[in-house]
Amino acid sequence: MAIPPASPFSLSQASRNMGAVLILSFLGVMFGGSVLTWRIVNLPGYLGSPLHQDLWRAGHAHAALFLLLTLVLLPWIDAARCSEALRWVLRVLISSASITFPLAFFLAAPNPTTASPEPALGLLIPGAILLATGLLILAWALLRQAPAPLGQGDAE
Ligand code: HEM
Repeated sequence: MAIPPASPFSLSQASRNMGAVLILSFLGVMFGGSVLTWRIVNLPGYLGSPLHQDLWRAGHAHAALFLLLTLVLLPWIDAARCSEALRWVLRVLISSASITFPLAFFLAAPNPTTASPEPALGLLIPGAILLATGLLILAWALLRQAPAPLGQGDAE
């Protein structure tokens, strides 16, 4: 039997589990893209309403973008110098953007007759705050000094 090549990076079991969920979530993005395609072809009002079309396109695109961002950052979260509890906080904060942003865009103009954005667009604000908090903590946890090994560091 062929021996699998050595992994270019190692992942914690938590990141492997979350990675599998994120990869499966791409099926949702593909379904969403198929719905958009159907609407372009079969729903005349879709292309006739720039507000609705722009916001739904943004919802689809941001879901894809933030799923990818979370996938890319999973190994970096594993590498962060912090407790496993804080790592979970980071996973949740960063991945939350792939729910809050699309939700805000889709609900802001739920159908082609929407004349102006609904208040749901305001969901972008907590979504952005949660994501920014996760990114800032991750950057801090990557840059902070490693704790000195036991018995060292006191003499300096
Ligand atoms: C079955 C799979 C998919 C289909 C049928 C599909 C379909 C579409 C359609 C029809 C649009 C344009 C919507 C409009 O203008 O109203 C769109 C936009 C977009 N899609 Fe998808 N999509 C799929 C999967 C994906 C995936 C997997 C990604 C990313 C990983 C993605 C990223 C994007 C982005 C970034 C845009 C915005 C492009 C722009 O505004 O220039 N899509 N997609």
